[in-house]
This record gives sequence, C-alpha cells and structure tokens, in this order.
Amino acid sequence: MTLRHASIIGWGHYAPDNVVTNDDIAQYVDTSDEWIRTRSGIRERRFVSDDETTSTMSVAAARAALDKAGLTAGDLDLILVATSSPDHLTPPISSQVQEALGARNVGAMQIVVGCTGFVYSLVTAQQFIATGACDTVLVIGAELISRWLKPEDRSTYVLFGDGAGAVVMQATDEPCGVLGHVLGSDGSGAEHIIVPAGGTAMIPTHETVDQVAIHMNGREVFKFATRVMGRAVKEALDKAGLTADDIDLFIPHQANLRIIDYAAKEAGIPREKVMVNVDRYGNTSAASVPLALCEAFDQGRIKAGDTLAMVAFGAGLTWAAAIVKLGVAIPALRQHEEVAVGEV
Ligand code: UT7
Repeated sequence: MTLRHASIIGWGHYAPDNVVTNDDIAQYVDTSDEWIRTRSGIRERRFVSDDETTSTMSVAAARAALDKAGLTAGDLDLILVATSSPDHLTPPISSQVQEALGARNVGAMQIVVGCTGFVYSLVTAQQFIATGACDTVLVIGAELISRWLKPEDRSTYVLFGDGAGAVVMQATDEPCGVLGHVLGSDGSGAEHIIVPAGGTAMIPTHETVDQVAIHMNGREVFKFATRVMGRAVKEALDKAGLTADDIDLFIPHQANLRIIDYAAKEAGIPREKVMVNVDRYGNTSAASVPLALCEAFDQGRIKAGDTLAMVAFGAGLTWAAAIVKLGVAIPALRQHEEVAVGEV
C-alpha cells in the first residue's frame, strides 16, 4: 500500500478573555508572583467565564481552523478532540463538537492522553490520512482545567489555565506532514497526575467530592519530563532521518519554562528556535501545543516548508514527539506571508 502525506492546512485557537495574573491569584492563594515566575515562568493564564465549557472553546478554535483552511464542517471526514477535561464523562465531547459544527455523518472521537493528547491525536490523524481512510481530519486540543483546581493545593493551582487550539490536516501529494514520531506511556507513574474520584474506582459521592480534583506530584513529574522530552525529540528526529539542525521551530508542551529550556538543550535546539508562551497561558494541558503552534503561525514564526518539532508529556504518565514538515503549497500560509510582506 502506498502511504499518503498529510499536510496541516488550517489552524485556529481560542483563549478566554479573562486574564488572571499571578497577583490576582495571590489574593486568595498562599503564593506570590515571584514564586510562580521563578519556579514556572508563568506570569498569567486565562480562566473561562461561567458560560463557557471545553466544548464551546473547542468549537471556537475549530471554526477558526476551518476558516483558515478555506473549508466548512461538511468537508471533514473525522474529528479528533484531545482533552482530559470534557464537558461530561459521557457522551464524548467529540460528538458535541461534531453537532455544534454541523459536521454530519463523520466519525468523531475523544482522545484522553493528558497533556500529551494533542500530539497523540495529530499522529493518529496522520495515520488515517496516510492509509487513505480519510482525506480531511480536524484535530483539536482543548482543556478547561480551572474547574478541576482547588486553591488549597497551591503548588498545582498556580500552574494551569484554559484554552483550545485546532488544526485541519488534509491528504496531499507534497512530501510533508508527520515525518517521524514517538508515542510513549509508563503507567507505573499513574499516581503522579491523577483525579482520584469521578471514575469507577471512586465514584463521586458527598464523601469523595474533594477527590474530584487534580492531584499532582510536581517534583516527580518534573523529573519525568526532563528525562523523556529531549530523548523523545531525538528518537523522532532519527525516525525522520533528520537532526536537530533541520528543525526550524521547536514547539514543546508549555508546562514550565525550566522544563522547556532543559528539553531544548537536551534535544540540541537553540533558544531562538523555541516557541514559548507559557508566560501568558500557563499550562493548558492538551491545548498547550496547539495554542503555541497557532501563535507561532500568527506571529509569522512559521514559513511554508518549515520543519517543526513538537513534544509533550503528561498524565499516564505519557510522552509523545512528532517532527512535522509544512507543505509549500498551503494557501493559508501563502496569504500569511503575503500579508507580512505587505506590512513591511
Ligand atoms: O503537564 C504536566 C503538568 N505538570 C508539570 O509540569 C509539573 C512539573 N513540576 C513543576 O513544574 C515543579 O515541580 C513545580 C513548579 C510544581 C514546583 O517547583 P519545585 O521547584 O519543584 O518546588 P517544590 O515542590 O520543591 O516546592 C518548594 C517549596 C515548598 O516549600 P518548602 O517545603 O521548601 O518550605 C513548597 O511548599 O515551595 C513551596 N510551594 C509554594 N510556595 C509558594 C509550593 N507551591 C507554592 C506556591 N507558592 N504556589
């Protein structure tokens, strides 16, 4: 079977309007702007307003991505939504998103791999396109973590934020798309990022309600992240037959600036090629890589034909890396570059 290429042809993101600074948080949590900035690099994050949910953010990001691609929901063959904070335990958020977009009769699935979910989903989309099963796939990473946080748990509360990002991938003759990838999981670290209650192991009751919140062992997760991220990028580069010098932009999971710096150093990628927006959004889990990717597009940091390295880690514990080449014939990127030239 001849495998087909899959190109990113559209992108879009949604960030709630409500900006919450470290000083805002320090009003009701025992913390300080100085502690949060020096330990994590975060200055502010976005929290949703009462009328927003993960699905409303997903739909906003998806519409922007479809618009950029010049497509409508009717052009889609498959919708993948990476999230660990869906509107409901069931139905899957992917069906809510499909209905809201008006994408009739397409497959839709929710992919739950913690903060790693978007990179897993991107690779999954590429597989469906490569085999010829689908032509056009919408991939969303969306997360509403603020409602899972308890202010009493200061070491976790200060790190997270809400948001969504999406890309449209489509079959193409151009040799581009995911050139190499790594997907990993080590369930022995499961308890290091966990929402203990709410599932079948501990159903939510009056007694267990306090356990329906993210519990995280930050130190262990930090050690895990520094162990796997650089290695995963190198393995994905190897599979792609490339080296760190071939990377035009590195888009790591935006959890902590210290982790990002460490991963870039390990992977051999210089700081000027690293996309960072953790300072403005905090850790948005499965939304963090697509949010960073979309901002990089919008800031003109990505050109047609560029090679990107994406890497993420998270609950599971899991990790994933993907080396992604942009096509040269993407109308949305062309328009972007023309606007940028026009602005000079
Ligand atoms: O997407 C995956 C999500 N997870 C992550 O990325 C988390 C990875 N881990 C981290 O980013 C870091 O471990 C943290 C930012 C969570 C913590 O940084 P750290 O340098 O590992 O700090 P620590 O946990 O060793 O805590 C140092 C001190 C402690 O006080 P003592 O015991 O030294 O007196 C904490 O009680 O800082 C204290 N502390 C705080 N102080 C002010 C913990 N949280 C806070 C806080 N404000 N918010």
